[in-house]
Amino acid sequence: MPKDFISVADWSPEALNEILARAGELKALLKKGERPQTLQGRTLAMYFEHPSLRTHVTFESGMTQLGGHAIFLSPDRIGIGTRETAADVARNLSRWVDVIVARTASHSLVEDLARMASIPVINGLTDRLHPCQAMADMLTIGERSALARAVVAFIGDGNNVANSLALAAGSLGVELRLATPRDYRPQPEVWRRAEELARASGARLTWTEDPVEAVKGANFVYTDVWASMGQEKEAEERRRAFRDYQVNDALLAHAPDAWVMHDLPAHRGEEITSEVLDGPRSIVLDQAENRLHAQKAVLERVLLQG
Ligand code: NVA
Repeated sequence: MPKDFISVADWSPEALNEILARAGELKALLKKGERPQTLQGRTLAMYFEHPSLRTHVTFESGMTQLGGHAIFLSPDRIGIGTRETAADVARNLSRWVDVIVARTASHSLVEDLARMASIPVINGLTDRLHPCQAMADMLTIGERSALARAVVAFIGDGNNVANSLALAAGSLGVELRLATPRDYRPQPEVWRRAEELARASGARLTWTEDPVEAVKGANFVYTDVWASMGQEKEAEERRRAFRDYQVNDALLAHAPDAWVMHDLPAHRGEEITSEVLDGPRSIVLDQAENRLHAQKAVLERVLLQG
């Protein structure tokens, strides 16, 4: 069993399914007003190098609901790499708290923290992966379709969200059709790993440049921002590159039965129109809610069964 939750690809499909099942159970319990105190007395350190609404609030309230506590840390408070090294921060935190969630601009930093900490480290988004989002997405998809029958079309930027979605789909047997411009495909090593996982699960993973081809017959149409955190300077160039990749009513006319997904925040009028984001097919708030339940299950997993 891995110590950390850095990539869904580090975990077996069986373990991922168990985490999703527990997330569903925790969700049902919370709806009844029940908050099992499984992490009583445990502390989570949350380190964020980028802004965060969903990840921050869901981890913090998740810890509260499970009977634990969370501490917010940011670069201006602790200065990894300026005030002290990542190794020193990881080793100190390991003496005081039980688990760390880190959102780091560079994926290598979250890997370094995990290597140097003796406690579990959870990836709260990097420039390469967003595994907690992928778990919430699988929970959301699974609420509307058997995973083995789901057909998900991801339209737009093959970045962190698409990368983790491909790994989760590959592992859990979900068909994923990715439509991105040629220069914005997922990172080749991530895609290769997703294909390897798909060979074992029987998932179909395909890539095309054509969004219409990808969405035809899909049950879920998913998109993410065109310029991610840290890519703000490329925003103009990216708006041009992704011009034909907007999720709007015209595209959705080719997928009449599809639910619409977005990890949020959305850049309304860019990758998705407000009409679609706020429309009857949108399940983006279910995805956002499921961050809470999925991450509570991940926290329990790394702390109680690691
Ligand atoms: N791709 C986006 C995801 C935000 C949750 C970003 O990295 O900014």
